[in-house]
Amino acid sequence: MPGLSGPSDYSQEPSRHPCLHINAKEPFNAEPPRSALVSSYVTPVELFFKRNHGPIPLVDDIERYCVDINGLIETPKKLYFRDIRMLPKYNVTATLQCAGNRRTGMSITRKVKGVGWNVSAIGNAVWGGAKLADILELIGVPKLTSSTQSGGKHIEFVSIDKCEEENGGPYKASIPLSQATNPEADVLLAYEMNGEPLNRDHGYPLRVIVPGVIGARSVKWLDSINIIAEECQGFFMQKDYKMFPPSVDWGNISWNTRKPQMDFPVQSVICSLEDAQSIKPGKVRISGYAVSGGCRGIERVDVSIDGGKTWREATRFQKTGTPYIADGISNDKWAWVLFELTVDIPQSTEIIAKAVDSAANVQPEKVQDIWNLRGILNTSWHRVHVRIGHSNM
Ligand code: MTE
Repeated sequence: MPGLSGPSDYSQEPSRHPCLHINAKEPFNAEPPRSALVSSYVTPVELFFKRNHGPIPLVDDIERYCVDINGLIETPKKLYFRDIRMLPKYNVTATLQCAGNRRTGMSITRKVKGVGWNVSAIGNAVWGGAKLADILELIGVPKLTSSTQSGGKHIEFVSIDKCEEENGGPYKASIPLSQATNPEADVLLAYEMNGEPLNRDHGYPLRVIVPGVIGARSVKWLDSINIIAEECQGFFMQKDYKMFPPSVDWGNISWNTRKPQMDFPVQSVICSLEDAQSIKPGKVRISGYAVSGGCRGIERVDVSIDGGKTWREATRFQKTGTPYIADGISNDKWAWVLFELTVDIPQSTEIIAKAVDSAANVQPEKVQDIWNLRGILNTSWHRVHVRIGHSNM
């Protein structure tokens, strides 16, 4: 691709914030301390988790950078960066969560395969860019189309990075055409994150943002778009990021028996306390994040300070000054809510959070019940143990 290239080694990586916890150095995978997630509703770019499968691409010449649109359409087209910037710009506040978030917690019961993540492979950002539905309309695919005349039913996004899992080929993923052409689905070709041009780690110059869906489908460093009949056959759609039952292991796995994971289920995590933290007896503020995929809001966050015997409801909020009501019209419909509850904790105990989304889905109690060999979507009740002792709060 003129203008953008994917290096084959790690000698030109960008610099990163020293506070990030590095889970894998090459490719670079890192997450912030959990306390950073509840310090602000919008996660600062430098503290946003970074999830990569190869070396970070480089822009050689932004004037020459363009996205090729090919496949089952009448006329293929090249869209230059300036063409995309001329389209109406939308700012969408959306939470991006890696399907591997909390994988380390799943490995504790039985080993799973993949980069280990604690609870911070998630972040909330304001993504600025053009709607994919507008771009597709420009090339002759009308809004709310589920199939093109020549049988295109999926939109494939292809990057430029060199991924080992793809034998040195690029990262790719697809979404259904019906989602891509639905303006309400807010799928973006984003060039900004929190009001600034995307940085290299997060996809400069252009990335896809698919709100409400696992982060794996939000392809960074976009090189081309293909309109195709079947979903993308790339590694990360067909041999990864699928949810298998606990009975499937590496000896009996049959990848094509399962669909690629898209929506994510309801999730909540306590971020104001570390596990095994020492606290002083008395009032303790418990806060964290809760989010659900598929545009479902958060109906409730329940907190227990006695290991799950009794529960109290936490307060939920997004923007200050605007009350949060699940699925209310003034909400950021693709974004997490933060929650908080201040309680008296007289003795050492286990504190638990579980959220309920607007479809009344609840987090499962035990990680064992949702164990899967790739360690995706650990959304079991989030637990932290606190000890009464010398406070380090
Ligand atoms: N796009 C490309 N080209 N290469 C990648 O490795 N990782 C995916 C997705 N898009 C990836 C990619 C995964 S698994 C996730 S969770 C998100 O990007 C992470 O986005 P972030 O690094 O901006 O947080």
